[in-house]
Amino acid sequence: MVLGAGRGPLVSATLRAARQAGTRVRVYAVEKNPNAVVTLENWQYEEWGSQVWVVPRDMRDWDPPEGADVVVSELLGSFGDNELSPECLDGARNCLKGGQKMG
Ligand SMILES: C[S@@+](CC[C@H](N)C(=O)[O-])C[C@H]1O[C@@H](n2cnc3c(N)ncnc32)[C@H](O)[C@@H]1O
Repeated sequence: MVLGAGRGPLVSATLRAARQAGTRVRVYAVEKNPNAVVTLENWQYEEWGSQVWVVPRDMRDWDPPEGADVVVSELLGSFGDNELSPECLDGARNCLKGGQKMG
């Protein structure tokens, strides 16, 4: 799962890493900003295909259909400022398989 996917660079990086590792993945790209979601949906349609599910939700309210093996997230603003977004990961613990600890 890519939590706070923005316009998708970490989704592309995840798919690239999976390709290099020779493994198949399903990626949930969770993003709450509707303006960024439009871009994610376009990438999904044009490039990523059915291996990526775009989830236009706040990660804290989302009830995932399955637990993630890996969560990828980068929630700091462009200037490295804390927009209180990193704390959102606390509310997304249920996204991990078995409700494991995020650290
Ligand atoms: C600093 S941006 C980084 C985006 C992306 N990781 C990248 O590298 O471009 C953080 C993103 O997380 C999203 N975000 C912040 N809090 C969120 C939440 N609670 N649920 C879903 N998305 C969230 C923001 O809308 C923003 O698009």
